[in-house]
Amino acid sequence: MTGSPRQILVTSALPYANAPLHLGHMLEQTQTDIWVRFQRSRGNHCRYVCADDAHGTAIMLSAEAAGRSPEDHIAAIKAKHEDDSAGFLIHFDQYHSTHSPENQHWSETIFQRLEAGGHIAIREIIQAFDPEKGLFLADRFIKGACPKCGASDQYGDNCEACGATYSPADLIDPVSALSGATPINKASLHLFFALTHFETLLTDWINSGQLQQPIANKLREWLEAGLQDWDISRDAPYFGFEIPGYPDKYFYVWLDAPIGYIASHQVMCERTGDDFDSYWLPGGGTELYHFIGKDIVNFHGLFWPAMLDSAGLRQPSAVYAHGFLTVNGVKMSKSRGTFILAETYLDHLDPEYIRYYFAAKLSSGVDDIDLNLEDFVQRVNADLIGKVVNIASRCAGFLRKKFDNKMSSECVEPALVQSFIDAGTDIAALYEAREFNRAMRDIIALADRANQYIDEKKPWVMAKDEAQAEQVQAVCSVGINLYRALATYLKPVLPVMAEKSEAFLQTSLDWTALQAPLKDHSLAPFQPLLQRVDTDVVAAMVEASKSKA
Ligand code: MSP
Ligand code: ZN
Repeated sequence: MTGSPRQILVTSALPYANAPLHLGHMLEQTQTDIWVRFQRSRGNHCRYVCADDAHGTAIMLSAEAAGRSPEDHIAAIKAKHEDDSAGFLIHFDQYHSTHSPENQHWSETIFQRLEAGGHIAIREIIQAFDPEKGLFLADRFIKGACPKCGASDQYGDNCEACGATYSPADLIDPVSALSGATPINKASLHLFFALTHFETLLTDWINSGQLQQPIANKLREWLEAGLQDWDISRDAPYFGFEIPGYPDKYFYVWLDAPIGYIASHQVMCERTGDDFDSYWLPGGGTELYHFIGKDIVNFHGLFWPAMLDSAGLRQPSAVYAHGFLTVNGVKMSKSRGTFILAETYLDHLDPEYIRYYFAAKLSSGVDDIDLNLEDFVQRVNADLIGKVVNIASRCAGFLRKKFDNKMSSECVEPALVQSFIDAGTDIAALYEAREFNRAMRDIIALADRANQYIDEKKPWVMAKDEAQAEQVQAVCSVGINLYRALATYLKPVLPVMAEKSEAFLQTSLDWTALQAPLKDHSLAPFQPLLQRVDTDVVAAMVEASKSKA
């Protein structure tokens, strides 16, 4: 490593506090966690913060349905989210909530700066209102018959039968999905953020080269179609923060959600002593990255940079969007048992399997990622167990039986070992660029070479001849040195296997210290690193997912 360590802050999107995490969420958190662990393994100072997104009508209603106060509801769900993430070996430096004093402080502060900057407009709008529930109704809470094909019981924005899109006012015989009452039109004052004031800023940001090409194109399309002011207020009753100076008006959930990144980081800084200001004021020499799904690009690519700018805060270094997870080629489906909750996965399978599988599929692009369950079993068993773990277990066996777990005093294949160490440069560049699939391909190709070397030398044949004992030790020591490089490169993906490998190898798998081969080095007795995946267990997980649907 050269140069001084980078100071990096990374986030993944804040999960809504009204439902458990599923494998789609875990795809995102795994992608982020791998990148963060990679940065740390390269000696950079890298922090990862997240939080629950706890506000909004949907959460208010789900608390009501669960028969608890919104506060109790979001606390219970947050605890569950944290457990599930930990189960997938996601390491957050802070996991906070948007329903927190820190977030209220920052939401109010940022709003007041927007207002002082003249970027808040007030206008009356007319909306559907449920007279029984006493609530304004978002489009998804209005149902009726499709104006195009007449199909009944369709949502307010699109028809599932014929695919037509329309506005809820077009529905035939509309009713509130909450009470069944016929909605009435009602006027109310709303606050708007004047996004149009930020056209120059947003044009520069879109052309900065910091965004993925398809994302930049999408944002440019929106910009060219003409920016619209953004409605940032909601009327009481609403679970959120009241807007200072506007009684009974609340911040729309998406106003305070990204501010949750700041709040969570602030709480972390108070604990760790990191310099909060250098991450949020312009020119602090730090980097800020948001990992998100492609469905929330408008919020992170338009509103958020504009909000940050008008509040006098720094711009993100980049926003990294990923595609959606499909299972066996289609959208996750409850009836097929492929809507797999994080918890259900963990009840059946080791998190490192899917961390590896996701890594083997993830790129820097925004294409959807398919979890094919057969391919999953096959890849984990063939690549991780059959290729990577196999190197260590074969070599360890010989070293234990005849050599008291001691490696040879000379490395007999210095060039081969060196080529594995040199390969780390390209692999690091792939991790950095979020081309995890290509990094995994390179690592597995190295594992193939290591196995090929052992197959050529045939230590199991030499072991039968006392005169060749020293060669057996030499070959297996080379194998262990090759394994050490592979385990180091896989450490961001497989932290537990790396820890077990460190115990076995009696050395830390430190990417920045991977320079010379281990010689004359004692190993600890080999313990199994990872078990094969069993097809039956995957089938059981699918069955369990059906019953939870
Ligand atoms: N609360 C908002 C995010 C606020 S960020 C300031 C939200 N929450 S979410 O729970 O719906 O989604 C959280 C993240 O998970 C989003 O980035 C979303 O794209 C991602 N995913 C949700 N389902 C997904 C898949 N099926 N596949 C991949 N990612 C998906 O949006
Ligand atoms: Zn229709």
